Amino acid sequence: MNVLGVETSCDETSAAVVRDGGEILSNVVSSQISLHRPYGGVVPELASRNHLRLINSVIEQALAEAHTSMEQIDAIGATYGPGLASSLLIGLNTAKGVAFATGKPFVGINHVEAHLYSPLLANSATDALPMVSLIVSGGHTILAHATAIGEHEILGQTVDDAAGEAFDKVAKLLGLGYPGGPEIEKLAGKGNPAAIGFPRSMLHDASDNFSFSGLKTAVLYFLRKNPQHSVEDVCASFQEAVVDVLVGKTLRATVSRRVKTVSVSGGVSVNGRLRKALTAGCADNGLRLLFAPPRLCTDNAAMIAALAYYKLQSGKPSDFSLEVAPSMGLGAGGNP
Ligand code: KG4
Ligand code: ZN
Repeated sequence: MNVLGVETSCDETSAAVVRDGGEILSNVVSSQISLHRPYGGVVPELASRNHLRLINSVIEQALAEAHTSMEQIDAIGATYGPGLASSLLIGLNTAKGVAFATGKPFVGINHVEAHLYSPLLANSATDALPMVSLIVSGGHTILAHATAIGEHEILGQTVDDAAGEAFDKVAKLLGLGYPGGPEIEKLAGKGNPAAIGFPRSMLHDASDNFSFSGLKTAVLYFLRKNPQHSVEDVCASFQEAVVDVLVGKTLRATVSRRVKTVSVSGGVSVNGRLRKALTAGCADNGLRLLFAPPRLCTDNAAMIAALAYYKLQSGKPSDFSLEVAPSMGLGAGGNP
C-alpha cells in the first residue's frame, strides 16, 4: 500500500510517499528556517503563507521522486494537530482536497504520535514493543509507554518548557541563531560540560515529569553575574544538565516498569551528546535503544505516511469534516 503523507504543523512543508508503513520512496522537506531566522523564531503568518506557496510543488516532487503517479497512491495521511493552526490548515485541507478529488481514503494524523512511533518504523522494528518512548521536540517533552502501534499512555511530561524550547531560549540568551539546538550542540563540543553546575530539575522527583524553565532562568542569572563567561562552557554545561535529566528519567521509567526497549524521537533526539549518553545508559541496563536517522527525527512527512498506513490497517479513515486541532496532546491513539 502506497501512502502519501503531508506535514505542515510548524515551519517545514513536507510530503512523502511510504510503502507498507516502512519503505520510504520519497520524503521531501522544504525548510523555512532561513525565512524565520531573522525573527529568532517561527512567525505563524509567514509560515502559513509559505506552506500555501509550496505545498502543491512539494507534493508533486514527492510523487516524482517516488516514481509514483497519483493513481498509484492508495491513501493519504496528513497532520491535523498539534501545531500552528494557520500552518496545519494548509496541509490538512490540501490533503483532504486531494483525497476527495481522487476518491482515496484519508486519515488525520497526530504529529506527536508520529514522532513517538518514528524510531520503530524507521528501523522496521515493530517487534521491539512494548517500549518506553522519550519524545523531545520544540513543543513537547513526553515519556510514554507504548504496547502496540497506536496503543500508548503518557507516563510523564514537562510541566513548563519543552526541552527543545529550552535549547532555543538559551540560544537566544546567548545571542546564537535559530533553531538553538544545533547551535548549542556545536559550541558545546568545544566547552567543558562540568564547568558550571546548572540545576537538574526534577531528576529525583518521584514522578516521570520534567521541568526546564528553572534551568533556563539559571542560565540567565549566570550570564548576568558572569559577563566574561565562556559561551562554549555555558553551552556544554547547559546541554549536560538537559541530557542528565532526559537520560536519568527515561532509564528509571523503563527499568522500573521492566520494559526492555527504549526509543527516542523528535528534533532534540538529533543531539549527539543525548544519543551517546542514552546509548551508554541502555547498554549498562541491558536495554535495546531505537532512534531514527536525523532527517526522520525533525519534522517530516515520512513519519506521517508511515503511521497513516498502520492507522488504516487498524481503523477507519477519517471523515472529511476533520478540523485542525492545534493544542491536542499525544492522545489515546485511535483514529480521529
Ligand atoms: O521535532 P522538531 O523538528 O519540531 C517540533 O515538533 O517541535 O523539533 C525542533 C526542536 C527545536 O527546538 C530545535 O532546537 C531542536 O529540536 N533541535 C535540537 C537539535 N536539533 C534540533 N536540540 C538539541 N540538539 C540538536 N542537535
Ligand atoms: Zn515535531
